[in-house]
Amino acid sequence: MRISNRFNFLFFGIAILICCLWGNFNNSTVYSAVPSYTTRVSQIAQAPNGEFIQAPLPYDYNALEPFIDAKTMEIHYTGHHGGYLKKFKKTIEEHPELKGKTLEQILGNIDNMPSDIRTSIRNNGGGHYNHTVFWAIMTPNGGGEPNGEFAKAINDSFGSFEEFKEQFKAEAFKRFGSGWVWLVRDKNGRLEITNSAGQDNPIMEGKYPILGTDVWEHAYYLKYNNARGSYVDAWWNTINWDEVNARFKESQTV
Ligand SMILES: [Fe+2]
Repeated sequence: MRISNRFNFLFFGIAILICCLWGNFNNSTVYSAVPSYTTRVSQIAQAPNGEFIQAPLPYDYNALEPFIDAKTMEIHYTGHHGGYLKKFKKTIEEHPELKGKTLEQILGNIDNMPSDIRTSIRNNGGGHYNHTVFWAIMTPNGGGEPNGEFAKAINDSFGSFEEFKEQFKAEAFKRFGSGWVWLVRDKNGRLEITNSAGQDNPIMEGKYPILGTDVWEHAYYLKYNNARGSYVDAWWNTINWDEVNARFKESQTV
């Protein structure tokens, strides 16, 4: 009898394990190696129950002055990011089967999302992800030079930090209209500077965004008017290199 109980325990234990592994396999995305809610963005952009949330800014609206003015920060955080999140949550509510998915799982599978909400996910889910990264990689008293393994990777890939910044700024001018400029790690482990339209982002192409800047006019027009290049130059003074280095390390795990 006791042996039979042990056998049952072992049998059902193995069966449950196989089911769990199969479930993970079926949910596989470009980020399948990262369990739910453990990525740096998921921990900020989602509550432990999976609900999408806008975390408080980790600094005051005026904390990034003189590089980014307080009014721009307030409108950007509350009006723009807040607006994307509100619409994204409404979109997800229309498709309960997406509940419990991480942002990465949703955006990484954009082409397989229900056709009636794909555009909204692209714009509003993308907007939620992009702005969550943007706030996290800035900090008061930021700037200076990259550190850690990331600094070496920049030198190896672009020759120097100065050259990297030049190429990044040039990419900002390639984006006609609204969008983002990114440093990404591609599937082969190469660092690459890219840009995207609207609220698209590299996850939609299976790439990991290490850092990115918002080149929508709402991000800079109040202070810099149409001088996008001046805004990008100033933006480097806000960068939280510790966070960027952590994102670089995370990019190697997905
Ligand atoms: Fe923005």
